[in-house]
Amino acid sequence: MGILSGKHLLVSGVLTKSSIAFHVAGLAQEQGADVTLTAYPRVSLVERLARLLPRPAAVIPLDVTDPESLAGLAERVGRHTGTLDGVLHSIAYAPPAALGGNFPGTGWPDVAATLHASTYSLHGLVTAVLPLLRSPGGSVVGLDFDASVAWPEYDWMGVAKSGLESCARYLAFYLGAQGIRVNLVAAGPLRTMAASNISRDGDGAGDFAALWHRRAPLGWDETNADPVARACVALFSDWFPATTGEIVHVDGGAHAVG
Ligand SMILES: NC(=O)c1ccc[n+]([C@@H]2O[C@H](COP(=O)([O-])OP(=O)(O)OC[C@H]3O[C@@H](n4cnc5c(N)ncnc54)[C@H](O)[C@@H]3O)[C@@H](O)[C@H]2O)c1
Repeated sequence: MGILSGKHLLVSGVLTKSSIAFHVAGLAQEQGADVTLTAYPRVSLVERLARLLPRPAAVIPLDVTDPESLAGLAERVGRHTGTLDGVLHSIAYAPPAALGGNFPGTGWPDVAATLHASTYSLHGLVTAVLPLLRSPGGSVVGLDFDASVAWPEYDWMGVAKSGLESCARYLAFYLGAQGIRVNLVAAGPLRTMAASNISRDGDGAGDFAALWHRRAPLGWDETNADPVARACVALFSDWFPATTGEIVHVDGGAHAVG
């Protein structure tokens, strides 16, 4: 018996074995959950990764920037499960021009692409599966990077994360009456595909990791996604029944110190 026994989760954001979502999916299964994965851009790639999880997981395609893909999501997920107990939003994308120190020169099309995939997608994903989300008791968890300050080279992704934080609060506000919780986990830097795209020299996580090594009171290991996955699993469980609109920092405490 795990803390997610009997629950069915929809997990977006698996791209590689390093993806935060891959760790959440594995740990959620270990804690008793049935997991369905969404795949972007290639279903076959995610199906290969699904075979590395402790238990089988269905894989369905989803492009969060494509209204048709979102419109068909509930029906596709519904083939695997009657209701959903939780949804993980672990999605971010920014074109190179929106990252890496080009902030003053970034044009609207690149900004729009960043906000669409990284901010508005939380609203898109949640509203697409709302008919399946258990009410009361459903839990939405999203992945955040502390947006309370500006970071070197994070640029428009930082703006997107500010919007994500606000979007999560508004979803918490509007879905609270249905007993659905919406929370974010603000993770410290982890070595993933998304992180490697942040800086021009491809060392985004490394730069941030050096900062974290200096600042985090608990220390920080940018190769270990387990603490972040644990927080996500806890928020999916019944152990945070009165928490919504929250940002749980899983960053070794770096956000708390100057
Ligand atoms: N790695 C870090 O240091 C770090 C720290 C804090 C927060 N985060 C956040 O964690 C989340 C997951 O990122 P990650 O670090 O695991 O990297 P990742 O590259 O493994 O995951 C990013 C995911 O976004 C998906 N995606 C992008 N565009 C999409 C679209 N149009 N439709 C559907 N999916 C799309 C990709 O397929 C991929 O699975 C992101 O929101 C990221 O900002 C990462």
